[in-house]
Amino acid sequence: MSADEITLVSTRWQERYSRKIVSASDAALKITSGDSVYIHSNAAAPASLIEAMIDRAPELRDVTILHLLTMGTAEYARKEFAQSFRVHALFIGENVRQSVNEGRADYMPVFLSEIPALFEREIVPIDVCMIQVSPPDAHGYCSYGVSVDCTIAARRKARIVIAEVNKQMPRTLGRAFVHIDKFDYVVECDRALPELLAAHPTEVEQTIGRNVASLIEDGATLQLGIGSIPNAILLQLGDKRNLGIHSEMLSDGVIDLIEKGVVTNDAKTVLPGKIAVTFVIGSRRLYEFVNDNPLFEFQTSDYINDPFVISQNYKMTAINSALQIDVTGQVAADSIGDYLYSGVGGQVDFIRGAARAKDGKAIIALPSTAKNGTISRIVANLALGSGVVTSRADVHYVVTEYGIAQLYGKTLKERMQALISIAHPDFRDKLEADCEKLHWH
Ligand code: COA
Repeated sequence: MSADEITLVSTRWQERYSRKIVSASDAALKITSGDSVYIHSNAAAPASLIEAMIDRAPELRDVTILHLLTMGTAEYARKEFAQSFRVHALFIGENVRQSVNEGRADYMPVFLSEIPALFEREIVPIDVCMIQVSPPDAHGYCSYGVSVDCTIAARRKARIVIAEVNKQMPRTLGRAFVHIDKFDYVVECDRALPELLAAHPTEVEQTIGRNVASLIEDGATLQLGIGSIPNAILLQLGDKRNLGIHSEMLSDGVIDLIEKGVVTNDAKTVLPGKIAVTFVIGSRRLYEFVNDNPLFEFQTSDYINDPFVISQNYKMTAINSALQIDVTGQVAADSIGDYLYSGVGGQVDFIRGAARAKDGKAIIALPSTAKNGTISRIVANLALGSGVVTSRADVHYVVTEYGIAQLYGKTLKERMQALISIAHPDFRDKLEADCEKLHWH
């Protein structure tokens, strides 16, 4: 091929690309009443397109807005837009929690590993897919950036794909690329991604972090779930050696461990040498760190979260949190009674995968109390209406600031004793009394 021909091939996509560029308001005109619109997750929610869609609220009716966790204000979930938009949340973030609990939005419990198949099999149909990507490279490929998770399946099944091409979206590597030919419309922008800054861990969280750290062996591959506990754990791992990461999500805490040489990924048995992840949420520092960084292998959630894949990691150690746990080990993590709080996410995927792995550990870590110490999170019976995210057969270790309860291979009675021993001392007598009413006690 001559140099001229190479130039011709490489510029052809640019012509096609420029023909796709429209304003955000013109792109939003492609949405029609009754459509199901998928919104890219986490920090990749396409803010300009969402704003333009909301501007069309007066003329749109019954548009389903489908998404996992998203950052941003999610204005479409507001009461005044109820005729126009109805949210179907596959994970409940703070921005849609009120509308879900007021019955104006719907929640779909589902394993993160299985969401792509819901789209692929059209069990959950998608008409319009609105994503946010990095600018195209020399070959016309954009990166899904900070959030790969379920986006490929959503994009593949949508009738119309609208891409917000953001100069500030990092170019992440792995199965993270999409060619501009897959877009129907492009909206260009240059805006900062939303950040989530980790709060400094409380005393209780630091103690939980130390207790969990005592279970983490050198050479382990870690998954860290969502919430305030994971960051506290990462801060306690400075003296570990040769850790690896295979996790659905990551936040800032991991950067220091990489820079200290604690996270090497050398002992990993799946994708050795790489941090395997489906999305990151954190500060601008994290977004810059993952940009063009071959250390990170971004992959879809049907791969990263597949319990079979997870279980092939030697010493896979999964650490997730809970809102409430009963004395038999049933974990409520997406709801408090019938108040819906978050989602199933990858908790069960990772707990199951880690439990099956050679020398794996499945850990639930939670503070012993909530609401400033007024409520025990360890209870005789889950609050009426609570959904069980992780079953009692799946939980191996439970950790609070009072210690570690090992439940695997234990009877209900033994579990009860182990869990009461790590409950807050103020609640242990009441727990004993409540448990006496249980038939099997
Ligand atoms: N009773 C009443 N309120 C409770 C409670 C209980 N048993 N447990 C927690 N709460 C309250 C807390 O006080 C807090 O209230 P506030 O916001 O007013 O302070 C709120 O509920 C959130 O609790 P907290 O423990 O701080 O949540 P978190 O941000 O650490 O997240 C989970 C914990 C369980 C919600 C989170 O890990 C999750 O969503 N898990 C399910 C999905 C998952 O694990 N995925 C894995 C990989 S992403």
